[in-house]
Amino acid sequence: MTGTSGALLEVDGLSVTFPSEDGEVHAVRDVSFAVEPGEVLGVVGESGSGKSVSLMAVPRLLPGSARVTGSIRFDGTELVGAKPETLRGLRGSEMAMIFQDPMSSMNPVHTVGRQIAEARRAHASVSKDEAWRDAVAALALVDIPQPETRAKQYPHEFSGGMRQRAMIAMAMVNKPRLIIADEPTTALDVTVQAQVLEVLDQARVESGASLVLVSHDLGVVAGTADRVQVMYGGTIVETGPTEEVFERPRMPYTVGLLSSLPAVDQIGGRLHPIPGAPPSLVSLPPGCSFAPRCPIVEDACREAEPELVEVGTGDAAQRSSTIGTDHLSRCRRWDVLAEGSTENLFSRTEVPA
Ligand SMILES: Nc1ncnc2c1ncn2[C@@H]1O[C@H](COP(=O)(O)OP(=O)(O)OP(=O)(O)O)[C@@H](O)[C@H]1O
Ligand SMILES: [Mg+2]
Repeated sequence: MTGTSGALLEVDGLSVTFPSEDGEVHAVRDVSFAVEPGEVLGVVGESGSGKSVSLMAVPRLLPGSARVTGSIRFDGTELVGAKPETLRGLRGSEMAMIFQDPMSSMNPVHTVGRQIAEARRAHASVSKDEAWRDAVAALALVDIPQPETRAKQYPHEFSGGMRQRAMIAMAMVNKPRLIIADEPTTALDVTVQAQVLEVLDQARVESGASLVLVSHDLGVVAGTADRVQVMYGGTIVETGPTEEVFERPRMPYTVGLLSSLPAVDQIGGRLHPIPGAPPSLVSLPPGCSFAPRCPIVEDACREAEPELVEVGTGDAAQRSSTIGTDHLSRCRRWDVLAEGSTENLFSRTEVPA
């Protein structure tokens, strides 16, 4: 559970609450995960499941009202409770963030090149000329044509896809070791999304950085992430190697997410959203937070929230763990999913006993 691995980022027992008029909002509940150097971790889950809050806690970008407990170690340094200077030193240099809306993160009154150069100079003692050259190189890295000319333009002179690539350039200019990208392409046209993701992946591969990628698009996660983390009701409900989780889901919620996707060969085919709504994060049910929507729920599921347990094949099976390298599920009945086909789980009229 502690820093035994060679992980770059180790999050252990992270919880985040916000005060609200109705009571405490339990936005993130006891979340533990690790990201190895060079690894890509995909984070998926419905809206409001705690994806952004859990990741914004890492560089401490949450509003002051947030109460954060647990441990976040970056390259062995504890960040929870660390001095603001420590975080400032890491943000934008060792760890970079890419958000959905590049317009809100770019200053409209400065040229794109100047902003990237300033990001460079904020963390490295280089001359203005050198920083400018680095900015142009970063724009070239993300496939911006004629980067010298483009660097002298303002954000509004860029298309949406180019702005997002410029954001990636700004994130990469200091050669971060960790990139946190929260829905980096959601605001873009579908055709542009693919190009931007390709550029991000290429930049990541070239720099050897680790990437945490939040995406609503399971196809994108399947194509990019080494491991995937499925979030529901503020916590991780399933995690493991991407292929293993997507091919052998062991948590009904993951099955539901996967079957709500139209298959590639069935464009225009029916979507099967999971019936019901996510739980209130103010008053969570005592048991499994997915129980009210689960097709294989039984009484015991409503009593206590299940632990994350090892569900992978091989010797590790059955071993309980909080930070694992293998496949974990927070379902008491994962073996039911292991036994039968999960394809029609949500359209079954009869729930297996
Ligand atoms: N500043 C805040 N104050 C109070 N509650 C908040 C705050 N920020 C987030 N929350 C709540 O925390 C919960 C988790 O939000 P979060 O933004 O992490 O969801 P998400 O999984 O990123 O969703 P989406 O897919 O829509 O981006 C939500 O219930 C949200 O309303
Ligand atoms: Mg979010």
